[in-house]
Amino acid sequence: MIKRLARCIREYKLPSLLSPICMIGEVTMEIFVPLVLAELLRQGIEPGYMPAVWKYGGLLALCALCSLAFGVASAFFAAYASTGFARNLRHDMFAKVQTFDFANIDKFSTSSIVTRMTSDVATLQMTFQMSIRMIFRTPVMLVMALIMAFRISPRLSIIYCITLPLLAFGLFVLIKLVHPIFERVFKTYDKLNNVVQENVRGIRVVKSFVRESAETEKFTETSDRIYKDFVKAERIMAFNNPLMQFAVYTCIIVISYLGAQLVVGGELDAPALTTMFTYTSQILMGLMMMSMVFVMFTMSRAPMQRAYEILTEEPQLQNPANPVTEVADGSIDFEHVSFRYAKTAGRNALDQIDLHIASGMTVGILGGTGSSKSTLVQLIPRLYDVTEGTLKVGGVDVRSYDIHALRDQVSVVLQKNVLFSGTIKENLRWGNPNATDEEMEHACKLACAHDFIVSFPDGYDTHIEQGGTNVSGGQKQRLCIARALLKKPKILILDDSTSAVDTRTDAMIRQAFREEIPGTTKLIIAQRVASVQDADMILVLDGGRIAAQGDHETLLKTSPIYREVYESQVKGGEE
Ligand SMILES: Nc1ncnc2c1ncn2[C@@H]1O[C@H](COP(=O)(O)OP(=O)(O)O)[C@@H](O)[C@H]1O
Ligand SMILES: [Mg+2]
Repeated sequence: MIKRLARCIREYKLPSLLSPICMIGEVTMEIFVPLVLAELLRQGIEPGYMPAVWKYGGLLALCALCSLAFGVASAFFAAYASTGFARNLRHDMFAKVQTFDFANIDKFSTSSIVTRMTSDVATLQMTFQMSIRMIFRTPVMLVMALIMAFRISPRLSIIYCITLPLLAFGLFVLIKLVHPIFERVFKTYDKLNNVVQENVRGIRVVKSFVRESAETEKFTETSDRIYKDFVKAERIMAFNNPLMQFAVYTCIIVISYLGAQLVVGGELDAPALTTMFTYTSQILMGLMMMSMVFVMFTMSRAPMQRAYEILTEEPQLQNPANPVTEVADGSIDFEHVSFRYAKTAGRNALDQIDLHIASGMTVGILGGTGSSKSTLVQLIPRLYDVTEGTLKVGGVDVRSYDIHALRDQVSVVLQKNVLFSGTIKENLRWGNPNATDEEMEHACKLACAHDFIVSFPDGYDTHIEQGGTNVSGGQKQRLCIARALLKKPKILILDDSTSAVDTRTDAMIRQAFREEIPGTTKLIIAQRVASVQDADMILVLDGGRIAAQGDHETLLKTSPIYREVYESQVKGGEE
């Protein structure tokens, strides 16, 4: 896992190396300073010898300057390397998400992908920055200070052999306690993001249903959980400091007591004892910093795992080895097709569908919500793979096609269609990047969008806000249809795409389709019988099965469901 993440360092290898190297320089200086200080005391201040004071004082200042320079350089390189690392990581994750198919996105959920690419990456950036500085600093400092202490007085240094393991054990226990809490916190973050995202995206709906207080409650609850967990973790981590203080002062007292005896006995001089104190605090500080690094790693293990999951997720829909790149015609065949969204799902969303649609046919699809209408049509451009059976387009299994070639020929206006921020033209060009103005206008006329577009002051250059909030629902739907038409597909699928368009315009669009693109196979999912009444074939779906099939006249005679829907709508219209 760490190996894959480390691959994101790429062009930032040099600063990633320089930072710890400078750090070692800084630590060396820090270890050196107490020694110089001891000499200053021993040779300069105690005998009152001025030249020695100047000499060692100057050396001391030089050491301090070097230490400062190394410290600044190390911090700079660390910041530079870590921001670069984060950039590459985000880039890799984004590129990977672009390859995801619908099933991958269902698995992670949009909000989780967003959290992983933002706050998780930020945590990893911080971890990376801290770790390249600390990972060498602490052990080097610990070891160097220990060596120096042992050189000054092996007898006094025995004390470390007792305190260090005790302190290490204490810190280990703390980390063990804290770890599961942090793991939980990151899961809760996902939930929090989910609540925020869902709310903000649907803020208009939230407002119109006056659900603000309920939504706030949901948010507060999740937020509180994070708060409680953090408090719990911090409460445990708070023991870190007293533990540390206790160890430091115990050491100092013991060293003072034993050291004083040594000094009196003439085995050690006073400056050496001062130096011992400094090393003592350096050693214990080193250990504490090490424990902090551990805690940090603990905290970032979850984000690491989560970023890694995105990087290694493989889309299940892969291009075949020798893909077919030409779609012969717009015929569609379902042969015993069954489909379920997840392997673990309790029931099939589609069950044993057998269906033949000839090229150029217009097919209407009716059915209650949840009857799997959308599911049925999403299989055709291979947005999902069938679970059982075969689905053929143009006489060839969809799994044999090059995915891009297939999707170019099968244009879907999804039920949850979206426009992206940009001008109308830019949005239309999603359908065909090379479309000329005439082609765009033609497509918009077919979709009955031309008239309202030219009525905007900026016409085709009108700016669409994010999510298409500055056009009406019906206008958005017509723009999406035009965008799909620009692909000049062999199969056009409209998933409830005229639900917000008035009946007259709806009829005009259908008429334009009939007259202008007769060769294109058209699948129209609709709520209104009127929208599909004149289709060559109408399917009535119920619970993932085809309940009835035939043209309007036949269905009126044979299908009670169809007759019922038809009568209720026609009567509703007449009243
Ligand atoms: N992405 C998905 N993941 C899991 N289940 C889904 C997904 N999309 C739809 N479903 C389920 O599949 C069934 C059919 O949904 P759908 O095809 O959207 O119905 P319709 O378009 O007819 O309203 C529903 O029970 C729905 O809950
Ligand atoms: Mg649907």
